Amino acid sequence: MTKQLIYTLILAFPLFSCTGGGQVSSPDKSISIHTGVEDGRVFYTVSKNDDVLLDKSFLGFTLADGPLGDDVAIAGVTHSSYSGTWDQTWGEEIVVDNTYNQLTVHVEEKAGAKRKFDVVFRLFNDGFGFRYEFPQQPNLGDFTIMDEHTEFNFTGDHRAWSIPYGANYYEALYEAKPLHELDTVSTPLTIETDNGLYLALHEANLTDYAAMNLLPEDGSSKLQVYLTPWSTGEKVFAKAPSVTPWRTLIIADSPGDLLLSRLMLNLNEPSKIEDTSWIEPGRYIGIWWGMHMGTYTWHSGPKHGATTENTKRYIDFAAYHGFSGVLVEGWNTGWENDWTKEGDKFSFTTAYPDFDLAGLSDYAAAKGVRLIGHHETGGATVNYERQLDSAFALYRRHGVKVVKTGYVSPLLDGKERHSSQYGVRHHRKVIETAAKYHIMIDNHEPVMPTGLQRTYPNLMTQEGVRGQEWDAWDANGGNPPEHTTIIPFTRGLAGPIDFTPGTFDFDNPVFPNTRVKTTLAKQLALAVVMYSPLQMASDMIEHYAANPEPFEFITSCPTNWSKTVVPHAEIGEYVTIARKERNGDTWYVGSITNGGSRRLTLPLDFLDEGVTYRAKLFRDGEGADYVTDPYPVAIEEIDVDAASTIELALARSGGAAIILSRK
Ligand code: NOJ
Ligand code: CA
Repeated sequence: MTKQLIYTLILAFPLFSCTGGGQVSSPDKSISIHTGVEDGRVFYTVSKNDDVLLDKSFLGFTLADGPLGDDVAIAGVTHSSYSGTWDQTWGEEIVVDNTYNQLTVHVEEKAGAKRKFDVVFRLFNDGFGFRYEFPQQPNLGDFTIMDEHTEFNFTGDHRAWSIPYGANYYEALYEAKPLHELDTVSTPLTIETDNGLYLALHEANLTDYAAMNLLPEDGSSKLQVYLTPWSTGEKVFAKAPSVTPWRTLIIADSPGDLLLSRLMLNLNEPSKIEDTSWIEPGRYIGIWWGMHMGTYTWHSGPKHGATTENTKRYIDFAAYHGFSGVLVEGWNTGWENDWTKEGDKFSFTTAYPDFDLAGLSDYAAAKGVRLIGHHETGGATVNYERQLDSAFALYRRHGVKVVKTGYVSPLLDGKERHSSQYGVRHHRKVIETAAKYHIMIDNHEPVMPTGLQRTYPNLMTQEGVRGQEWDAWDANGGNPPEHTTIIPFTRGLAGPIDFTPGTFDFDNPVFPNTRVKTTLAKQLALAVVMYSPLQMASDMIEHYAANPEPFEFITSCPTNWSKTVVPHAEIGEYVTIARKERNGDTWYVGSITNGGSRRLTLPLDFLDEGVTYRAKLFRDGEGADYVTDPYPVAIEEIDVDAASTIELALARSGGAAIILSRK
């Protein structure tokens, strides 16, 4: 499973330098960027074929000691090109193409300190990224960014799907609005242009900077960057030489193509983990939904979920059904009182007396299962960092290889925003420390992901989305049916999502008006649609045991893929994704719809030509409907080949899941 990164350097040397503005095109020439200087400020424009997508968009900063970039000249430009491929340790496919043309614009202040910075534009066939680079220089050492003034001056007032900046942990519903109506929003921002292009504006390689948010300038369709501030108002503390994250725009002809872009990963550094053999994708269950349903409590007491006895039940079930992990939340001391306000009470090395960590680890290991550890920090990062080494060392000693982290608290340590440079630095520290202990991370309440999993493939999956847990306790009824047809095209572009699908019992004893608003067949399909290398089957095990036939799809569906195709996609309406398993020839398909029922014809042209496959279909059964009866699943088997099509009849908020194995 270890995949060496393979780089094939075809061309990576400067071709020429010149003064004045520079221009560059994507390798297929479809995208071009022009740069120049006007009124002392550097700008860029972007065209796709003959259409201008972004008109003059200016660049620059305000530093603590004044502007940087408002009285500059272009001292020269440099061009280079590269073409190669690399292999993903895990992912939606193995090989990633990394082919681009690059333009570096060397910018220098015309007077005064004559400080310099470069703007590097990297153009792929499916979009581009650019970043600022601050070279070592006499007059720029430590510096403080008060504002980044990057602009994205869209030529049309396009429809865009967004969540507001400041929504706790990005757990909000995406709304579609014209660009000029946006409030300050988080990225990814997904855009449908008036002439049918699909764009996604985001960032890559955020490792020591503040997250990028966007807001329109004076009710126009020109978006400006707003960096998440420190509590003291500064945005970024930096020191030359250094670089900013890449600002990225995917440019696709269809919504499905957005899902296949690997531009963000290409703009992250190659893996810093040499031996990745210990990094293993997998499927897990957990003592978890029971807490959200009020069956168990996190803290110890009569309803404590994380008891030795209950955990053994979950381990037995996992072993029997081939799950690799069992998440156990509420095993450690600190859950009493209001833990969201008193997160610094958590100990990450002291178990409750009724939870035998050592005994359970041995019990699990004997059955080929591993416990998945849990660190809810309550947002108290100082308390967590103090215990980080001892906590990971303890888990490593007990064979725990995955830890789920959590940061439930509107502010970190009572004052800093999650997506500030403070938060970014904390998460980077956690992932680097975890790597030292051979621990994989599933991070809840994260900073919006930006592709760091390429550099640290132990960063498996993250939340940062309104996950299925909202269907347990949201006062407003839970996630609407269309939610899962939007997030693959928005939050999903930022990386794997720990959405936690898998509901088999739709009653909610705590909030009877709140429930999972899908059919059961759609829950199966989500295991394919919602990509995550660690995929949870989230329901309580009793509910799976009661319904073994559809459960077969969940237990057989892998979480690591060699190919991905997107036969159907319309944002907010429906999506079908087909994926081929990493180590075999079997394909898995998930198809879901929003609150409307619909029929889709699925072409099977992704299958190998001339081969007969046995298709096992799990689809909405007679009368299935997310409101009146989510349960019916019809299961049938047919022979198909690459020339076949399958008619999918999806119920309201329904779905279909298919296994296609060679005969
Ligand atoms: C928030 C996480 O998203 C959820 O999955 C977890 O159960 C709670 N925090 C408690 O840690
Ligand atoms: Ca959460």
